[in-house]
Amino acid sequence: MSFVSVTDVWQSYGGRPILERVNVEVEEGAFISIVGASGCGKSTFLRMLLAEELPSRGAIRIDGGAPAVEPNPERGVVFQRYSVFPHLTVRENLLAGEGFRTALGRLGGGARREALARAEETLARIGLNHVADQYPASLSGGMQQRLAIGQALAAKPRVLLLDEPFGALDPGTRLQMHGFLTELRAETRMTVFMVSHDLEEAFKLGDRVLVFDKPRWDPDDPGLYGATITYDFDASDGGMPFQRILDRYPSLGPG
Ligand SMILES: Nc1ncnc2c1ncn2[C@@H]1O[C@H](COP(=O)(O)OP(=O)(O)O)[C@@H](O)[C@H]1O
Ligand SMILES: [Mg+2]
Repeated sequence: MSFVSVTDVWQSYGGRPILERVNVEVEEGAFISIVGASGCGKSTFLRMLLAEELPSRGAIRIDGGAPAVEPNPERGVVFQRYSVFPHLTVRENLLAGEGFRTALGRLGGGARREALARAEETLARIGLNHVADQYPASLSGGMQQRLAIGQALAAKPRVLLLDEPFGALDPGTRLQMHGFLTELRAETRMTVFMVSHDLEEAFKLGDRVLVFDKPRWDPDDPGLYGATITYDFDASDGGMPFQRILDRYPSLGPG
């Protein structure tokens, strides 16, 4: 059985279908890129993986169980808007990232020392040791986003969900973040789902690229049908048939 198994999942809001018949099997450790037009349900899909909402039909299994409703150390999440706490320093943000698992306030000396050691390790990994005692507002966008990812990683997630994580970054910082993510993947067996509106990025980082689109379309009522996975591209060899996809889905292209 696959690590993540999505079987005939539908989602509707107020009777309007957003997603329909979504089926996908994902092996542990895979990097799954997700692309699709704005509003087609990509974030909705991530929220269901995160158990922030339940599908109106169908089933999602992660490692054989339902996605956990409680905050879960196995899941980490980074959204485009930085999820860091402005009133905490960089180091404190990483400690907070461990969340309920360590319930920091109630930790004994030994456990607290361990949590601090882990925070130092993460600081080094995300290259922010030199700003550990600063507040997020004093960091560049790229550094803030590295912190957000570091925070998600502090809980040692088995699944990392990234919702357009680099959308707000300039091209140089973006490239740096690609390198950072690639390094992290080499070091862990994390399974990653990343929504991106940049096809090239999706193919560069992903082992697979899933395209969400509406296979059925009623011109009189565009909201009648939901989107599903219309393509599941193998991107593991770095081969980039994305020009073909760009031709087919101009809305996914730059600008
Ligand atoms: N909680 C909600 N209640 C009602 N409609 C929603 C809710 N969340 C998302 N939607 C709608 O569902 C559609 C898909 O949204 P979303 O998953 O955010 O798309 P994407 O991430 O692909 O841009 C949009 O039309 C959005 O307005
Ligand atoms: Mg979205």
